[in-house]
Amino acid sequence: MQSRVPLTRYLIEKQRKQQCIDDDLRLLIEVVARACKAISAYVSKGELGNILGSTNSTNVQGEVQKKLDILSNEILLDATEWGGHLAGLASEEMEKPYSIPKEYPRGKYLLLFDPLDGSSNIDVNISVGTIFSVLQHTGDNQEVDEGSFLQPGYKQVMAGYTLYGPSTQMMLTLGDGVDAFTLHKEHGTFMLTERGVKIPEETQEYAINMSYQRHWYPPMTRYVQELLAGETGPRGKNFNMRWVASMVADVHRLLTRGGVFIYPRDQRDPSAKGRLRLMYEANPMSFIVEQAGGMSTNGLQRMMDIQPEELHERVAVFMGSKKEIEVVTRYHQEYAAQQSD
Ligand code: AHG
Ligand code: MN
Ligand code: MN
Repeated sequence: MQSRVPLTRYLIEKQRKQQCIDDDLRLLIEVVARACKAISAYVSKGELGNILGSTNSTNVQGEVQKKLDILSNEILLDATEWGGHLAGLASEEMEKPYSIPKEYPRGKYLLLFDPLDGSSNIDVNISVGTIFSVLQHTGDNQEVDEGSFLQPGYKQVMAGYTLYGPSTQMMLTLGDGVDAFTLHKEHGTFMLTERGVKIPEETQEYAINMSYQRHWYPPMTRYVQELLAGETGPRGKNFNMRWVASMVADVHRLLTRGGVFIYPRDQRDPSAKGRLRLMYEANPMSFIVEQAGGMSTNGLQRMMDIQPEELHERVAVFMGSKKEIEVVTRYHQEYAAQQSD
């Protein structure tokens, strides 16, 4: 029987054969995976772990932090700060970048993460996830500041997410496709379960929070009207709507069986660029989606070409099966061109 390949062997072989990772990046992926195992264990304890519910604090986005948001953030910091591979870290749950404590050596990578995505789902026992992204620290100075992180998404050297669902799954890209791992909980090891994940071309599903419809801009309404028209409309087929409200779970579904995930900007706050965060939500997921043959834009341009201006910058998100993202992006571009005439 062909035995499954554990993450450690996968990474060592990748380093040996393809030389697309060095020792530091390999160890960084290992420690991030270890942190995700710990988060997975806490998430699955549920009520028995005394970790459900909210804290009294809010994060930099003004959102109430869940106990598990904070715990997951601490687990990721504890797992990664001492290894010597990082120059600095940044997280949804920390206003400023986190400097590596003086007693530890510094490395050349920057790690960004959303420690727990979809955490509003945690109290109702619905899937949540961790999203992570690695950039290179290019400055000569070993000190990092917010500016060190403000690199467009195409500069990511690695991105991934871990989905805490009925099983715990991790998807990784190093820029040469997407590979999937499943946590063998009894062995405590991530096992390679699929190589070269590809987003199916044919799409029958969309993940969009339809309750904001009345606030949408015209190109979004135009696109969704076409989906809703089903067989009798321009798409000539019926679509299903699925919305978990955990980006990780919604994007994982489209990687598995095709579809689109859209969170547009809307007229509730015309000055807001969107709801999701560019650096540690949209960019890592875009890297994975593109590497799986899909497409990701902010409605007007390729997501990973955006030059970030702030660490916690928000962005509109359109990602998934290429043909659909091309259509909805074109509608937004046409509308923007009309508005500027
Ligand atoms: P987070 O829990 O990290 O703040 O992210 C939640 C995000 C995303 O996962 C999800 O798609 C979206 O927020 C849901 O937002 P709405 O409740 O506005 O639909
Ligand atoms: Mn999130
Ligand atoms: Mn989060």
